[in-house]
Amino acid sequence: MRVLITGGTSGMGQQLAMQLFAEGHDVDVIGGTDQVRGMNLVALSRGRIRYYPADLGNIGDIKRVAAEYCHECSSLDRLVLNAGVYQRQSLLDEKGVDKAFVVNYLHRFMLLLLLRPLLLASENPRVLINGCANFGGVELDSRIFGRRYQGMQGMTEALRANGLLAYWLNARGDYGVDVDAINPGYVNTGMHRQGGHLMRLMIHWFAISPQHAAEKIRQVLTASDLPSQGGYFNGVKVGRYRHSVTGRPEDFARLWEQSLSLAEIREPVWAAPADTQLRLA
Ligand SMILES: NC(=O)c1ccc[n+]([C@@H]2O[C@H](COP(=O)([O-])OP(=O)(O)OC[C@H]3O[C@@H](n4cnc5c(N)ncnc54)[C@H](OP(=O)(O)O)[C@@H]3O)[C@@H](O)[C@H]2O)c1
Repeated sequence: MRVLITGGTSGMGQQLAMQLFAEGHDVDVIGGTDQVRGMNLVALSRGRIRYYPADLGNIGDIKRVAAEYCHECSSLDRLVLNAGVYQRQSLLDEKGVDKAFVVNYLHRFMLLLLLRPLLLASENPRVLINGCANFGGVELDSRIFGRRYQGMQGMTEALRANGLLAYWLNARGDYGVDVDAINPGYVNTGMHRQGGHLMRLMIHWFAISPQHAAEKIRQVLTASDLPSQGGYFNGVKVGRYRHSVTGRPEDFARLWEQSLSLAEIREPVWAAPADTQLRLA
């Protein structure tokens, strides 16, 4: 099985990459702001894990790496959208879009669209989004969307957007690939170490290890008996999306529209079989 993991250079993503590699799968990793970590992963696997450096907080770089990956691969069995960052202060790009927002939500949206042709070329493809809330309530005002996005509030907003995306891509029925969502629990990774004193204390008391979390993700990712329409997983247990996600298709429609606009991707045409490639603006 060929698996692509975003943010596979540290934390849960790195542990997942190593566990899947040890099981004999072909593992590719996109992302990582620290390229030394990426090269370490390649070295640990004796060159068998392929590493594609990219800044997943940069819309142009996401398109570049997606195009490079599509050029090198003919099909993809599992896509794990995992990269994330906890940013205390807002860091905006030249268009005023928050970098943390791009890493935590928009790179997932973009790769879901841009890598879809590779997934459709697999016999049994699946996507797993790590970092999803099962409740809705995303700020969809176009003047705010993607901006002013730091700290825990910004992180929660991304988790909600990811939940909406995962649920509605399945419910709408036209994406053609099951998209599962997972909340692995509270995990002791570098992300929390960037937080304040209280956050560090909480980790010390309550968090599970990244190995343990990756084990749960691996189980969900490789299970052969999952429900066919995409599910929400609390660890390895099947959970449920709340009504604030399932009952508000208009929120997803706005999220979709705003995301296409920010990423400068035109509406994809799913219907025509020959036209699975996206038309990039
Ligand atoms: N930790 C938790 O308690 C928890 C709970 C639920 C869900 N999650 C989700 O799990 C996911 C993985 O997080 P983690 O806890 O394992 O944290 P982590 O150890 O900090 O890993 C985050 C990964 O994302 C990469 N990344 C961050 N910014 C990037 C950028 N601009 N471009 C490319 N790659 C970038 C990091 O690479 P570099 O280190 O090289 O930048 C790293 O590989 C996140 O999406 C998070 O929201 C975490």
